[in-house]
Amino acid sequence: MSTPTPQPQLRAGMIGMGMIFEETYKPFFERTHREGLYDRRFGDVAVPLTAVATKTGKRAEKYRDSSKGAIHPFVSYAGDDAVDQMLRAGVDFACVASPDDRHFSASKKVLEAGCHLLVEKPSVLSLTELDELVALAKKQNKLAKVVYHKLLDPDHKKLRTLVHDHVLQHVNNGYCSLLEPKSISGGQFAEWIVGRNPGTYVACHYIKLIDFTFGGKLKTITASGQRGLVGPKDGPTWDSTQMKMVYEYDDGRQAAFDIHTSWVTPDNFPGYVEQEVQFRFDNGVWNGHSRKRGVECTVEGLTPFKMKTTMNNHYNGTFVEPWGERVQRGYGIEVLDRFAREAAYVEYAGPKSERPQRLAQMQALGYNDLAADRQTVAAVQALEAILTAHANGEPDCIVRVNGNHGGLVLYRPGCDKPDVLYTGVV
Ligand SMILES: NC(=O)c1ccc[n+]([C@@H]2O[C@H](COP(=O)([O-])OP(=O)(O)OC[C@H]3O[C@@H](n4cnc5c(N)ncnc54)[C@H](O)[C@@H]3O)[C@@H](O)[C@H]2O)c1
Repeated sequence: MSTPTPQPQLRAGMIGMGMIFEETYKPFFERTHREGLYDRRFGDVAVPLTAVATKTGKRAEKYRDSSKGAIHPFVSYAGDDAVDQMLRAGVDFACVASPDDRHFSASKKVLEAGCHLLVEKPSVLSLTELDELVALAKKQNKLAKVVYHKLLDPDHKKLRTLVHDHVLQHVNNGYCSLLEPKSISGGQFAEWIVGRNPGTYVACHYIKLIDFTFGGKLKTITASGQRGLVGPKDGPTWDSTQMKMVYEYDDGRQAAFDIHTSWVTPDNFPGYVEQEVQFRFDNGVWNGHSRKRGVECTVEGLTPFKMKTTMNNHYNGTFVEPWGERVQRGYGIEVLDRFAREAAYVEYAGPKSERPQRLAQMQALGYNDLAADRQTVAAVQALEAILTAHANGEPDCIVRVNGNHGGLVLYRPGCDKPDVLYTGVV
C-alpha cells in the first residue's frame, strides 16, 4: 500500500496585526483557509497562518478567539522576543506589517531564519538596509518582496498599459495626493507616530507607481511639511508633507512629480482616504481619482462616519455575490494572493532540481522584488533626511542622486559640506 503524499503547504507567519492586517491579510488568510491556493502548475497548496508576532498580543488573540474556525488556529507570540519565537515555531514565509521604522529588523530575522519574506511598504528606510536584505535573500535562496498594492489598482494598471504600449508618450510632470483622516494619526497610530511622517507612510505608494510606470533615473528630491496638530509645531512629528522628485529618461529629457500627503484630514471627510493623481504627457493627460470612481451613497445615521459616502469598492470591498456567498475582495488582497502564488510556484511547480530557475523567474518581477526597490527606498531615505534636517532647524535641503559626492547626498542651503547618505550607486 502506498503512503499518501502529504499536501504541499506554505506555513505563514504574520508580524504586526494592525489596520492593514484587518483590511487585507485577514480576508486573504481566511479565504485560503477555506479554499486553499490552486494553480495547474503547482497544484493545491495549503497556506495556513500558523503563528503571529505582535507587540501586546491582545488584538491577535481577540481575533483568533472570535473568528470561530474562519482561519487556521494560529499561535500568538507577544513582546520583545515575539518575532524570534514565531520563527522558531516554524514558518515557510512571513509577512512584516509592523510600523515602517521596524520593518528592517523583523525582515532580517525572517530571511536569516530561511523563510520567504513579504514586507509592507515602504520596504525599509535606507539603501544600506535594502542592500543587506537583498544580499541575505540571495544567500538564502528565498524571495524578498514588498507590498505596493496600488500597482494592482485597475486604474493604475490601465495607466501603465497605456504607457507601456506608447499610447501615452513621455511623461513631463504630474502630481499625486493622498490624505488620511485625523482619527488614524490620533488613534490607531498613536503608539508609533512620534518622529514619523505621512510621506514615508503613504507617498511611497506614488513614488513606486511613478518609478515602476515611467522608469527613468531618479535625480533630485526636495520636500517640505507642516507640524502642530499631531505633535508640537517645532517637533519631529509631521502632519503633512509635500515632496518633489525629478527623473531623467534615456533621451536626456526630465520630468518632475509632486506628492502631497497628510494624516490630519477631518474625520467627516466623505471618503476614508482621498487619493488623486494627474500625469501630463507629450500627447495627453491622465486624471485619476480613486475615491470618485462613480459611487456616491448617503445613508442617514451611517455616512460619512460609519460608512463612507464615496466608497472605494476596488481596494477591499465587502460584497454579497450574486450566488449568495459573502466575500471580501479587491486589489489589496489580490497583491497578497500573487505573492503566495509566487512562493508556491518556486517551491512546488516542478522538480527540486529546477527550483533555482523558478526562483530566478520570480525574483525578476520588478513590481515587488526588493532588488528593484532601490529608487523608491532612495526617495524615502531622502525624504526622511530632509525632514530630520528641517526639524533640527535646517529647512530647504536638497538631495541629489548619483552625483559627484556619492549615490545619495544631502545639501544644506549655505553650507559647503554635503552630507553623504549613501556612497554606492543608487
Ligand atoms: N499596503 C498598504 O497600502 C498599507 C496600508 C496601511 C499600512 N501599511 C503598512 O503596514 C504597516 C503597518 O501599518 P498599520 O496601518 O497596520 O499600523 P497599525 O499601527 O495599525 O499596526 C501595527 C501593528 O504592528 C505591531 N507591532 C508594532 N511593533 C512591533 C514589533 N516590534 N514587533 C512586532 N509587531 C509590532 C502592533 O502590535 C500592531 O499590530 C506599515 O508599514 C504601513 O506602512 C500598508
